[in-house]
Amino acid sequence: MGINFTINFEQYQTIDKQGVTQALSDAINIIKHNLTTFTHASQMHSSVKNQYQACKNDHWTSGFWPGTIWLAYENSLDDVFKDSNLIQIQSFHQRIINKVEIDHHDLGFLYSPSCVSAWKLTKNEQGRESAILAADALIARYQSKGGFIQAWGAMNQLENYRFIIDCLMNVPLLYWASEETGDDKYRQIASVHSRTTLENIIREDGSTYHTFFMEPESGKPLRGSACQGFSDDSAWARGQAWGIYGFALAYKHEKDKEYLKAFERVAEYFFHHLPDDLVPYWDLNFNNGSNEPRDTSSASIAACGLLEMADLVDNEKAALYRSIAKKLIYSIYNSYAVKNIDQSNGLVLHGTYSKKTPFNTCDEEGVDECVSWGDYFYMEALTRLNKDWDSYWG
Ligand code: GLY
Repeated sequence: MGINFTINFEQYQTIDKQGVTQALSDAINIIKHNLTTFTHASQMHSSVKNQYQACKNDHWTSGFWPGTIWLAYENSLDDVFKDSNLIQIQSFHQRIINKVEIDHHDLGFLYSPSCVSAWKLTKNEQGRESAILAADALIARYQSKGGFIQAWGAMNQLENYRFIIDCLMNVPLLYWASEETGDDKYRQIASVHSRTTLENIIREDGSTYHTFFMEPESGKPLRGSACQGFSDDSAWARGQAWGIYGFALAYKHEKDKEYLKAFERVAEYFFHHLPDDLVPYWDLNFNNGSNEPRDTSSASIAACGLLEMADLVDNEKAALYRSIAKKLIYSIYNSYAVKNIDQSNGLVLHGTYSKKTPFNTCDEEGVDECVSWGDYFYMEALTRLNKDWDSYWG
């Protein structure tokens, strides 16, 4: 068993230790510069003409900027980052206490990189309390008929009765909450949700649906459907990348080989649909020669998933996963990373949040722009390559 590659990865360059140091130094300079704008404000989910604007802490993406600051702190040990983030944490505490835009499942994306990290790195009590309250809000979205956490919208309405692949990145908050509180209820829901995702979201060929509807009365699987992807039968690049990282995290927590197999199938499909420079277009339907925009964030997310799994498997597989991750990150660093602040106040160019098509039911936003999670996962991958890293994802 293992990933069956037809790609010759040998031909690709690998980021080495010196490259990682340089990439981190470039990124940390930009992050430091950005503290002036984004200490008492949040950073928007995507840039406009490669410039992020400030906004309120009320988007699903607001956790990535503090996560990025924590990573800058870990790599530099410069207190300016810690001090800035402790201000951010107050805002996350207010957000969960006052229930500001938390009626969705993205509470892991919000509270793992911002507050679980704050607790792990500085023993900040407000961070711990906020993250546990976020876990409480997340389990309130659990649907026992079907066994899943409902992604969006009012509960118990037919049109909202679905989960999405991205949620594999939200449930690690629940595993963390059980470990932290000693209360198993969070882990139990995470476990059932992960199993439901495993059983339904992967197609025969290893590609994935973005979203999956369940039948509310019987709890039986209904059908897969696109939201941000090109079409119901395509593989949205970021969804596939969430699957790679998400199944790696599920394997870490569940220790069930079925998750390892799912990771391998999903990763294999992803790698077989990459263009020549290993950085996907926004949907894996598109390949070399396409005029469609890229989604650089998918490559960084996939690299983090490979690096996570490398810590969980035998030495041979681990070496392979690490070496592919280093090739993905080399390509991002070499061709897409911002090298100085005059170019952009983001870290990585050419991400895509949501590209409108007749099938994509989401609004068009952040096409061919920096995206805040793209910056975060690029920093996470570099951090993983630079040091032993205690994950923010539980
Ligand atoms: N979780 C939504 C996205 O990846 O754009």
